[in-house]
Amino acid sequence: MSTEAEALKLDAADAGHRDLFDVPPAQGGDYPEVAYFAGNSLGLRPKATRAELLEDLDAWAALGVEGHLDAARPWLPYHELLTGPASRLVGALPSETVVMNSLTVNLHLLMVSFYRPTRSRHRIVIEDAAFPSDSYAVRSQVAFHGYDAEDAVIRLRPRPGEDSLRTSDVVEQLGGDVALVLLGGVNYLTGELMDIPTITKAGHAAGAVVGWDLAHAAGNVPLALHEWDVDFAAWCSYKYLNSGPGALAGAFVHERHLGTDLPRFEGWWSTEAATRFEMTPESRPPASADAWQVSNPPIFSMSPVRTSLELFDKIGIETLRERSLRLTAYLAKLLAPVPLQVITPSDPARRGAQLSLRVSGMRAGELSRRLRFGYGVIADAREPDVVRLAPVPLYSTYHDCWRAATALAEVMA
Ligand SMILES: Cc1ncc(COP(=O)(O)O)c(C=O)c1O
Repeated sequence: MSTEAEALKLDAADAGHRDLFDVPPAQGGDYPEVAYFAGNSLGLRPKATRAELLEDLDAWAALGVEGHLDAARPWLPYHELLTGPASRLVGALPSETVVMNSLTVNLHLLMVSFYRPTRSRHRIVIEDAAFPSDSYAVRSQVAFHGYDAEDAVIRLRPRPGEDSLRTSDVVEQLGGDVALVLLGGVNYLTGELMDIPTITKAGHAAGAVVGWDLAHAAGNVPLALHEWDVDFAAWCSYKYLNSGPGALAGAFVHERHLGTDLPRFEGWWSTEAATRFEMTPESRPPASADAWQVSNPPIFSMSPVRTSLELFDKIGIETLRERSLRLTAYLAKLLAPVPLQVITPSDPARRGAQLSLRVSGMRAGELSRRLRFGYGVIADAREPDVVRLAPVPLYSTYHDCWRAATALAEVMA
């Protein structure tokens, strides 16, 4: 096992941005702050979030309705402040990107446009280990169109004895009856990073539409959605994007679908901003992802997303990914002698920050409780037997990794 002194030395040489975040106090162990590994579930709060949210909140007190136009960050075009940084984060054009709603809501709104089943082509491909919300969403879409979810939803399973999906096996399942491929860019349970460009290309070759749930990918790994020709994507902002519980989500629609006659559900925010107050009965949607908006956005929920996206924009996802590769490799090295099975792919190109550990001899929840109260290490349990650890390059440290591995070694012994 690496020593604590080694970990501290690595931190001195390769510091992140922990000083920009509020790190909660530990409820056990030898250190005042937690070693936080649950950034793949709920990221920590950037220190700037509170002050900037208060500025937006106080504009309401000072200006009332006039804040729509006169606030320092006017509310009417507020969402546009998020579009540039969000688009750069996911490798999209600004016109292809919008921040709105929640993740599953966005998936539904996008499926209204992109799941257009016919009798001969109505199937949807997801991972068997898809996050349940995605499974419920596609099953309900299939049922909405009058098809049987048991027949229409194809669930991809790893080969017996394996935990991750092989790209070639995914590609093989994409037949002529598939209308939509909707996979997680990084799987929530195993941490596997899918080969998004290859699968997107294969889906298109099979005649399907290809969308991605990037909940665990956005802010974790660099993405190039435009270049990869992805049809649509959605992601949440409360995990790696550190925007707070239930934070507003992102959506991407490829340029080639903008301004087309794809069906969309509309509301007053689907129309061109310049004409919004002409109060006409028919909308005039812009040729951008903004056309997928429905309602006027909740400004005080957008504020933390804006603060966080600006941070990502300043530091850069490529830089963060480099540190992420070093941190996760270090954690993997420290965990190698611990009697736990790492089910995340060992190839760094096939994973993001997260390592998922299969636990035996106790339930995952029990292990995560012991880590929290005995050691001040916050890990996330997926019952019955998976504990997930995500060293986050913005605020996690080598010392955090050392604390987690040391605690796991002690508990498992
Ligand atoms: C992969 C994935 N999809 C969907 C969701 C559900 O997100 P929401 O509740 O924001 O719709 C989550 C939440 O953790 C998730 O991890």
